[in-house]
Amino acid sequence: MHFQWYPGHMTKAKRAMQEDIRLIDVVIELVDARIPLSSKNPDIDTLANGKSRILLLNKADMADDRVTQDWKNYYESKGYFVIAVNSTKRNELKAVNQLIQKACKEKIERDRKRGILNRPIRAMIVGIPNVGKSTFINSFAGRACTKTGNRPGVTKGKQWIRLNKQVELLDTPGILWPKFEDQTVGLRLAFIGSIKDELLQRVEISLDFIDFMLERYPGKLAEFYGRKEEGTDVEILKGIGEIRKCLKKGEEVDLEKTAALLLDDFRNARLGRISLEFPELEG
Ligand code: G4P
Repeated sequence: MHFQWYPGHMTKAKRAMQEDIRLIDVVIELVDARIPLSSKNPDIDTLANGKSRILLLNKADMADDRVTQDWKNYYESKGYFVIAVNSTKRNELKAVNQLIQKACKEKIERDRKRGILNRPIRAMIVGIPNVGKSTFINSFAGRACTKTGNRPGVTKGKQWIRLNKQVELLDTPGILWPKFEDQTVGLRLAFIGSIKDELLQRVEISLDFIDFMLERYPGKLAEFYGRKEEGTDVEILKGIGEIRKCLKKGEEVDLEKTAALLLDDFRNARLGRISLEFPELEG
């Protein structure tokens, strides 16, 4: 299976981010809690070198709690300040503010020693498309959304959102690209719906998804669709099609329709909270 990407955009976006990152103190990187590796762009490590790093395991409401906790430990051991959130819930984001203070403690101390008081911390949101950057910015900034306008030393056109006395947020997120050359990454992004699945690939993707479910969450598909997980992945897909009446004329199962239904059930968390990546398997 091959996924396509556009290297031209990538280079341009990277250059713009290089500019922006010079202006900020802390990088808040969003990843999808269901795939905290595949939804993370490795280039950001170079780009954000020397900055405080916060990793937001977003959409945690859709991921497996226990696994999300494992990822939190995993990334904390790599030096990130980590928090699991649901960005659609504004009141869950208060803790992010505290984490920003914690992540920038050294900078605040350093400023204080130099006699610089109350200089706001400058933060920037980064992440690959669809991880929830705009949702997070809207919820996090909320009504505090007053733009601070251009200032000397700030790249022309940059807008900052004053969150409170202590924090300013760059209003445009840095968009990074996933690591597409890796087909496992592509497949996992396809599972969560971050890559549009072509009609032809949808069945293939859903079969891979069934294989994954049988291995990591045995019994879940049976429980949801009310049919035993017996036979091959294709037979299971057909079984789902029969039970959900995804049929072509002549009572034959419409595999494409069934695949779309299955993926839609997963993407809307109707199958329950499912994580697709596990730190103990990824090393
Ligand atoms: P982006 O700026 O990083 O590209 O992502 P964006 O905020 O547009 O979010 C992508 C989708 O993910 C949005 O759904 C948004 O509501 C959803 N989303 C963001 N954060 C969370 C979260 O923490 N939990 C859950 N459950 N959903 C979240 P959308 O545009 O309405 O698309 P869809 O709902 O039709 O898939």
